[in-house]
Amino acid sequence: MRMYDIIKKKRDGGELSAEEINFFIRGVTDGSVPDYQISALCMAIYFKGMTVRETCDLTYAVRDSGEKLDFSSVKGIRVDKHSTGGVGDKTSLVVAPIVASLGVKVAKMSGRGLGHTGGTVDKLEAIDGFRTTLSDGEFLRQVDRIGLAIVGQSKQFAPADKKMYALRDVTATVDSMPLIAASIMGKKLAADDDCIVLDVKTGSGSFMKSVENSRALARLMVDIGKNAGKKMVALITNMDRPLGYAIGNSLEVIEAVQTLRGCGPKDLTEVCLTLAGWMLSLAGKGTPEQCKALAAQTIADGSALKKLAEAVAAQGGDARLIEDPSRFSPAAHVHSVLSPAEGYIRRADAEAYGFASLALGAGRNTAEDTIDPAAGIVLKKKTGDLVRKGEEIATLYAGKASLFGAAEKTLLAATEIGALPPADEPLVYGVVE
Ligand code: URA
Repeated sequence: MRMYDIIKKKRDGGELSAEEINFFIRGVTDGSVPDYQISALCMAIYFKGMTVRETCDLTYAVRDSGEKLDFSSVKGIRVDKHSTGGVGDKTSLVVAPIVASLGVKVAKMSGRGLGHTGGTVDKLEAIDGFRTTLSDGEFLRQVDRIGLAIVGQSKQFAPADKKMYALRDVTATVDSMPLIAASIMGKKLAADDDCIVLDVKTGSGSFMKSVENSRALARLMVDIGKNAGKKMVALITNMDRPLGYAIGNSLEVIEAVQTLRGCGPKDLTEVCLTLAGWMLSLAGKGTPEQCKALAAQTIADGSALKKLAEAVAAQGGDARLIEDPSRFSPAAHVHSVLSPAEGYIRRADAEAYGFASLALGAGRNTAEDTIDPAAGIVLKKKTGDLVRKGEEIATLYAGKASLFGAAEKTLLAATEIGALPPADEPLVYGVVE
């Protein structure tokens, strides 16, 4: 078998066999397929797509490309939630402790920020001392003991995805439905949780810009997971506007803590409670509505916040930051963005806001870049709010004042202000079961 023939077949619209897909993924994993051939096949898949059968075979090959953890020592049901990526999306920091505080285990392997989207691992590393790398034994013991651990993916875990993702990121082939489905579900199936809730984002800040495409991606991933014996559900949620007010790593941890205290933004709280409700429901705790109420109770009685502090302490993090987020080190420089006009905020383009935050130092342009944990944006006005000319619409945080100019320009260009309020958009567009 030759990679040349596999690339040509897909380029010409052919359907790859399971043997050809396995040959490709084996070569990605052992390094025998060079980067240019991996990239060429990804581009061919981007243009020609894949059948459901091909996507399933690609997913299983990614799942089997690395080592799997043996969870037999962990008692109880394990449930995971995975977002397809967004701006200001700190839901994992809220839903994981909610669910764990109700006795359902969460053994979470999370990613770093990609492009304009943030990543849970980068956010957690904003907490002094927090270790996102644990040995397999430490990870399993923590999940068994306190019900919650959140780590980054180890090198041995679905390594084919790691390699492909890095190449897709720089060859404009991220937003391909079969490639996203195989990447996410390959990792989810390797993690081997009993139940999986997918948060499929839709809109400008997500990789799928239209609700139709997001729904199709959700259907595909749910079917792949069910085919592999998992309990699955996908929510399609709004990512046309940033979620909550904070974008950036420590800023988002602070907002997640506020949400667990019951004083978080309405949109973030609602999405988190809906996701947590479905996670608990799949784990057998009741109907999604009953479980949503249980989830709200863990915020009201403080048990979810306590669970987050417990997990942070167990992973070496400074739990005092969770008890008192005003202890987070502030950014060296702060800048106010003022409204150039009076009117309603009709649009705050999430993707552009993500890029503005990245320009302030909250994300990476290349894999080698280091992140400034305190950098980012706090919105003062959200889509639908009325603003006066000269009123502050956002506060920017950065390590260098020279970074403000470009970020402010991007942010203002992405903010539409008009005389009429915008039409209401749903937070949750639908559920795919
Ligand atoms: N998140 C992933 O893990 N993979 C993708 O392809 C897109 C988002």
